[in-house]
Amino acid sequence: MRAMLPAALLILLVAASDSRHVRPHGRLTNDIEWQHTVAGLQQLRQHRQRPGPVSGSAAANTVCESGTYPPPPERAVPHYIINLDLPPEYRYCKVMEDLGPAASHLLSIVRSEVAPIIGENTFKAVEKLSEIIGRKLPYPFPDEIRGIATAASMEEGDVALMNIFYEVFTVCTSIIGRASDGTLYHGRNLDFGLFMGWDMQNHTWKVAEALRPLTVTFEYQRDNRTLFRTAGFAGMVGVLTGVRPGLFSLSIDERFTLKPGLWYMLEWVFGKANVQWNTVITRQVLENGTDYTAVQKQLAKTPLMAPVYFILGGNGSSEACVITRDQYKADIWPLGTPSVSQKSTWYLLQTNYDHWKRPPFFDNRRDPGVRCMDWLGADKLAPETLYDVLNSKPVRNRLSVYTALMQANQGHMEAWLQYCTDPDCAIW
Ligand SMILES: *[C@@H]1O[C@H](CO)[C@@H](O)[C@H](O)[C@H]1NC(C)=O
Ligand SMILES: *[C@@H]1O[C@H](CO)[C@@H](O)[C@H](O)[C@H]1NC(C)=O
Ligand SMILES: *[C@@H]1O[C@H](CO)[C@@H](O)[C@H](O)[C@H]1NC(C)=O
Ligand SMILES: *[C@@H]1O[C@H](CO)[C@@H](O)[C@H](O)[C@H]1NC(C)=O
Repeated sequence: MRAMLPAALLILLVAASDSRHVRPHGRLTNDIEWQHTVAGLQQLRQHRQRPGPVSGSAAANTVCESGTYPPPPERAVPHYIINLDLPPEYRYCKVMEDLGPAASHLLSIVRSEVAPIIGENTFKAVEKLSEIIGRKLPYPFPDEIRGIATAASMEEGDVALMNIFYEVFTVCTSIIGRASDGTLYHGRNLDFGLFMGWDMQNHTWKVAEALRPLTVTFEYQRDNRTLFRTAGFAGMVGVLTGVRPGLFSLSIDERFTLKPGLWYMLEWVFGKANVQWNTVITRQVLENGTDYTAVQKQLAKTPLMAPVYFILGGNGSSEACVITRDQYKADIWPLGTPSVSQKSTWYLLQTNYDHWKRPPFFDNRRDPGVRCMDWLGADKLAPETLYDVLNSKPVRNRLSVYTALMQANQGHMEAWLQYCTDPDCAIW
């Protein structure tokens, strides 16, 4: 049975994998494992419906939005206080009481997408393996996962599985801009659920649809004091987007490599247990980080489970960077320097591709974003206008689940549900 488990997760990995992983990657060229995955993916594609139109409108066609803030009130997300003084099992009770059914619904969508491909029994094995994975995480995460499962009447393995999904299937755009007065604003779109079920009727991604109702903002408190704020999902214990008031703001974007994210997960389970999950280290630095410089160092140096981009902004006007991570190595792109795609140096715009390379034609959200930022200019940068940029297509696309806006000095965090349903919306 035990020997079956890795095989089971591998199948899931192939089943749920993302075509953008096929992109050749300069730094990781010797991945023999990848050959197998590609073969598996190609076989699998024949059984999957290809979603509608091709994405990636050229920057020239981008219409930069203006005056779209604030979004309608129904786009607001619920806010929950998480008390870190409680034992980990009890921290998420309230949110899971409210949103447990939505979490179960998300899981049922994932199951209905994945189980027919890999088989019911294999899916059960994956849930079991996820439970083991969840328990291998450092304190307090296993206890928090157990508490969430209890409060939502879900299996522990299923809650762990959802946390694994957030770790490996997140496609995004993050921007940190410096306004003319020196204030840094940090915004991000969270796009999620690529290749997880295309709804032919409504032209939506089923997982993105199921995920929106789980979107919340959390305020983590210790000793009745706000320690940090995050935009996240009910049932998630790690962090993709967060701000530590007075100190820094942080978001993570997935970095595609030859090896799909779940491959790294497998390596972690069956060997490299000394490396950190990306969403775990972000939670740890938000909870216990002391200042921008220390956090930057920690994010650049800690061995990671999988490659990722950390977008980090501090409380001073020159403190911002994109940290491009390998498992062990890091490249730091500081605010004030141009990239291969942007001449302006008053902002950093990061999607899912290395700043020293051009993005691929089939997923170019970078050039449109850069065009809108340049059009805006530092003089007009504010939370409202940053929202406009993130709201412009194809930066906003059919996978977009939420847009978050942060300001480190004020400790500000807000998140709005995001949709793209117009006929000309890019499918990713
Ligand atoms: C499409 O959207 C409509 C209205 O939101 C909904 O009732 C219907 O169930 C959706 N179709 C599918 C296949 O989910
Ligand atoms: C937090 O405040 C509540 C009342 O507002 C108080 O009962 C509790 O003891 C406080 N907790 C801590 C850790 O200070
Ligand atoms: C932060 O530090 C405290 C005290 O050392 C510890 O109890 C807590 O688990 C840490 N938080 C995380 C997320 O590791
Ligand atoms: C900025 O962070 C540093 C620690 O890195 C802290 O000493 C300082 O007070 C902070 N400044 C502001 C304005 O919050």
